[in-house]
Amino acid sequence: MKILLVGGTGTIGKRIYWRLQDAHEILTAGSKSGDVQVDMTDPRSIEEMFTKIGKVDALVVAAGSAPMAPVQDLTQEHFQEGIRSKMMGQINLALIGQKHLNPGGSITLTSGILSEDPIALGAVLSTINAAVNGFVIGAAGELLQRGIRINVVSPGIVEDSAEAIGSYFPGHNPVPMERVVNGYLKSILGICTGQVIKVY
Ligand SMILES: NC(=O)c1ccc[n+]([C@@H]2O[C@H](COP(=O)([O-])OP(=O)(O)OC[C@H]3O[C@@H](n4cnc5c(N)ncnc54)[C@H](OP(=O)(O)O)[C@@H]3O)[C@@H](O)[C@H]2O)c1
Repeated sequence: MKILLVGGTGTIGKRIYWRLQDAHEILTAGSKSGDVQVDMTDPRSIEEMFTKIGKVDALVVAAGSAPMAPVQDLTQEHFQEGIRSKMMGQINLALIGQKHLNPGGSITLTSGILSEDPIALGAVLSTINAAVNGFVIGAAGELLQRGIRINVVSPGIVEDSAEAIGSYFPGHNPVPMERVVNGYLKSILGICTGQVIKVY
């Protein structure tokens, strides 16, 4: 399978890469790193990337961010940054990517536990994660009519991030990387579609 892995050099993405690399042809993409460069916040850059790499069997996105701040300080700009990066970055990859998938192809996006299990300073991420989940639920039926599957993996804080950001997640159980990667494998190699694959 030819797999495009946007964010393939990141904390989660590199684990997906390690697990799949022996059996599949994987192209990693990042804004600075990876086999191919793309700015997921810029639709033109996404188009250019697909022109360079051609069709793929699976598009996987483990990238996109949103700011953390206290609710009393939040402004429209905080939300716009999350929309630009984690929400529309992933949605644009999916919208453009659907035209560059081989028959039977799949799309896998990433949201996160904060859509339903909040933390302090996380209101923007809670909003954006819920929006990404909503896009996948809303788009899956029409994509299925064209033989394309789409899912979103929603991880809890992952083990490899626990040291750096675990203090923001009091009482949360860091998720072993093998379980996180399995969530992506279920979407890429399995048969499900329209699913929010929760890995908490
Ligand atoms: N880590 C966690 O505990 C956790 C838990 C739940 C959900 N998530 C979500 O999972 C996703 C990945 O998290 P992570 O911790 O693995 O992130 P990370 O370690 O910061 O890695 C981010 C990856 O995205 C790429 N990237 C950044 N900006 C980009 C852009 N504009 N265009 C294309 N690629 C870009 C980076 O490559 P370059 O540096 O080359 O741009 C890198 O490969 C995020 O959406 C995050 O919110 C993470």
